[in-house]
Amino acid sequence: MEYIVETKKITKRFGKEYAVEALDLKIPKGEIYGFLGPNGAGKTTTIRMLLGLMRPTLGTIQIFGKDLKRERIEVLKKVGSLVENPSYYPHLTAYENLEALRKIYGISKKRIDEVLEIVSLLDVANKKVKGFSLGMKQRLGIAASLLNSPELLILDEPTNGLDPSGIIEIRNLIKSLSVEEGMTILISSHLLSEIDQIANNVGIISKGKLIFQDSIDVMRKQSQNKISFKVDDCEKVWRFLISSGIKADFSEDTISMLEQNDENVATVVRLLVENGFSIYRVEEEKRSLEDTFLQMTAEERVI
Ligand SMILES: Nc1ncnc2c1ncn2[C@@H]1O[C@H](COP(=O)(O)OP(=O)(O)O)[C@@H](O)[C@H]1O
Ligand SMILES: [Mg+2]
Repeated sequence: MEYIVETKKITKRFGKEYAVEALDLKIPKGEIYGFLGPNGAGKTTTIRMLLGLMRPTLGTIQIFGKDLKRERIEVLKKVGSLVENPSYYPHLTAYENLEALRKIYGISKKRIDEVLEIVSLLDVANKKVKGFSLGMKQRLGIAASLLNSPELLILDEPTNGLDPSGIIEIRNLIKSLSVEEGMTILISSHLLSEIDQIANNVGIISKGKLIFQDSIDVMRKQSQNKISFKVDDCEKVWRFLISSGIKADFSEDTISMLEQNDENVATVVRLLVENGFSIYRVEEEKRSLEDTFLQMTAEERVI
């Protein structure tokens, strides 16, 4: 697999506190990668390091296969970003705001119309930004990030504070950038529902550490309902099941297997009883994607 972003053990320490610790991010080419984690988990800090706005305490960052530290300008030329609330000139129009940036980058004038079209702001191009809704301002921010035709787009919580229709607009926009422009997109959020609806890959960060990174389908698989059996000697029962060709896992006092139909459950129960094992309880464990996320990011309990 070709990775557009690959970090090795990136770490950021503020004083004695680790905001980000030994992160190995792998963002595949052409995918929408959801960077998910509760507030304060370290998402913005990570993104600032990826954008060269902050230097890692330790670790290395490769973007487009190039070392960010060594080839910073070359790399960042092909990256677009929207981090926190972008600032605009409120008394200028959408067009004029983009024009100011266009001059800095030295990009052709026609690109302004193109990006306004992509974010559906062409019809309000000549309206002053101070009259824009938050959703329109976010879309203008994305338009600005697209000016240099980036191959990688990094968006830090772009739907934060938006109303439901604003959220849907941004979501559709991101999907179309992925499908139509083939861009690789990193989008962060503290909401699983956001990432679930948009991303094909997900990295979950909690207290500065990456605790999961894979496709959203793999995460869904981990979230399947389970059937658990309470038995007396789990390991023994587990060995017996495995030797009978039945897939299962065990913990201290429970055997668990992926959701089964009633017949299969009955077969397992019969098999165990016939072989002299006692079953104290059979339970169905329902797990949603949300449960899995909450469990992964749960605080360790202090008693
Ligand atoms: N400039 C800074 N100085 C000190 N601590 C910081 C700084 N920036 C972020 N932090 C701390 O790093 C942690 C991660 O913050 P952040 O990356 O903003 O999280 P997120 O974006 O996931 O909400 C937090 O505990 C935050 O207080
Ligand atoms: Mg943040």
